[in-house]
Amino acid sequence: MKGKFIVFEGIDGSGKTTQINELSKWLIGTDLIPENNKLVITREPGGTKLGKSIRSLLLDTSRETPPDSITELLLYAADRSQHVNEIIRPTLEKGDWVISDRFCGSTLAYQGYGRNLDINLIKDLEAIATQGIAPDITFLLDIPIEESIRRRINRKDDRIEKEGREFLSNVSLGFQALSEDSNWKKISAIKAKEKIISEIKSEIKKLLKNK
Ligand SMILES: Nc1ncnc2c1ncn2[C@@H]1O[C@H](COP(=O)(O)OP(=O)(O)OP(=O)(O)O)[C@@H](O)[C@H]1O
Ligand SMILES: [Mg+2]
Repeated sequence: MKGKFIVFEGIDGSGKTTQINELSKWLIGTDLIPENNKLVITREPGGTKLGKSIRSLLLDTSRETPPDSITELLLYAADRSQHVNEIIRPTLEKGDWVISDRFCGSTLAYQGYGRNLDINLIKDLEAIATQGIAPDITFLLDIPIEESIRRRINRKDDRIEKEGREFLSNVSLGFQALSEDSNWKKISAIKAKEKIISEIKSEIKKLLKNK
């Protein structure tokens, strides 16, 4: 692909939105993105119009009967397929860059490690949904569970965020395992925001040098 695809992963409240905002401000001011190309910021679930409807099916707390875990997995896969085909692939083909708030790693961590669904089944669905589109780099923003809870104290939790401490702890273990992959970069995210963004910037510069 001509463009670069950057993903941020991490448990709730780990600072993904904060760092994505910082990174995009910085990137727009540099000449790292080729002239005539742009940066697209997106997220999962809900990066497309169809995906927004899927997001509310997944995360609303108001439904009497929540989706069962396989239904949940299939909804995430459907959201991802639409996202890849409508936004991510066409953007990268133009040479534009994409930053996504969550991608396949979240499904492996939440539905695989959190809900104990079969990892191979999840990977098969991932292959169907992504059709070979993969991030150039995935940043894992790593914070302890206690810090996640503390940072979200004044927020209304969505359906997944309401799952509680043990679930979140399994999800976090999942992210740790995934971050062993060479295309992932784990960053301790309990530091000051400025320190975190400077590590992210240097990883992006490294990525461009190595390609
Ligand atoms: N390095 C940091 N140190 C202290 N607080 C931070 C740091 N980064 C972000 N925060 C604060 O933590 C809260 C959660 O951050 P943010 O919304 O960026 O996380 P998130 O990963 O996007 O969360 P979610 O998964 O719920 O969307 C915010 O109030 C934010 O200001
Ligand atoms: Mg966020």
